[in-house]
Amino acid sequence: MPLPHTILALPPVPADLLASLQGVGEVVVGSKDGDIAPVSAETLARVTGVITGTRVKFNAARFDQMPRLRVVSNFAVGTDNVDIAEATRRGILVCNTPGVLDRAVADLTMGLILATGRKIVAADRFVRSGQWASARFPLTRDVSGKTLGILGLGRIGQQVAKRARGFDMTIVYHQPRPNAEVEALTGARYVERDELLRESDWLSLHLPDSPSTRNSIGEREFGLMKPGALLINLARGSIVDETALVAALTGGRLAGAALDVMASEPVSADHALAQLDSVILSPHAGSATVETRRAMMEMAVANLLAVLGGGRPQALVNPAVLNPA
Ligand code: GLV
Repeated sequence: MPLPHTILALPPVPADLLASLQGVGEVVVGSKDGDIAPVSAETLARVTGVITGTRVKFNAARFDQMPRLRVVSNFAVGTDNVDIAEATRRGILVCNTPGVLDRAVADLTMGLILATGRKIVAADRFVRSGQWASARFPLTRDVSGKTLGILGLGRIGQQVAKRARGFDMTIVYHQPRPNAEVEALTGARYVERDELLRESDWLSLHLPDSPSTRNSIGEREFGLMKPGALLINLARGSIVDETALVAALTGGRLAGAALDVMASEPVSADHALAQLDSVILSPHAGSATVETRRAMMEMAVANLLAVLGGGRPQALVNPAVLNPA
């Protein structure tokens, strides 16, 4: 008897986890880099569950192609690639991978705070280009003793605060409501949004993409920041107005930025931000370690199997599908 499910696995799935998917259905794949484009309309029409990265969009048009779809299991914590309201309306469960990637993203955040302050990437370029013998590398800046502003002290923001505390930074944060428990754990102090912008030597963004965060760091915000401050973004590129960022960097308001995410990805080498030596770029790799990606895939597979088996997944973004009002 044929198995009841067709599972579309867009990111590569390790053999042992693939075997558990094959236990409940036929597994089909997309392109080598996880795109859905090569999957035929006939196959899409059979798919009951999908594991996907955030570069593939799931909206009404896509759902129309996949009438049997019951679950979108995102291989990511962010779900901005999925139209959640539309999925909910159609009874499609959307899952994600919160928690397991917090430390890896926070590690890279701390790495980029250090890299911008101590100019680690520029120092490497300086030595490799043979300048060491004839020139002096400019002095850099202390990280220790400086103020880190965290916009969004959620799971990842808290892990960043914990690390920054170990580097003797003063930590301020802003989000809609203060969280006394987290303040006690991290030593972070709650401030109003404008105060955060004014006080921070480094501003690190840890917000999801949403209509209210989109382009929310722009000309006004850069104007409030300390001259010479540094911007770190490992959240979503959509949060930053990139034209205003280029102006703040070239005008000297900001001393630099480190961006793991950009408004449109992947970014080409001729992007305006890629022309600036004061900017460090990284290819949306906050969670991209062997250990963390394994843990994320385990969770994405477990979420999908739970739904297809009729149960409740560990990380469900739209519980309203299971508990309609
Ligand atoms: C990565 O950006 C994620 O949302 O997990």
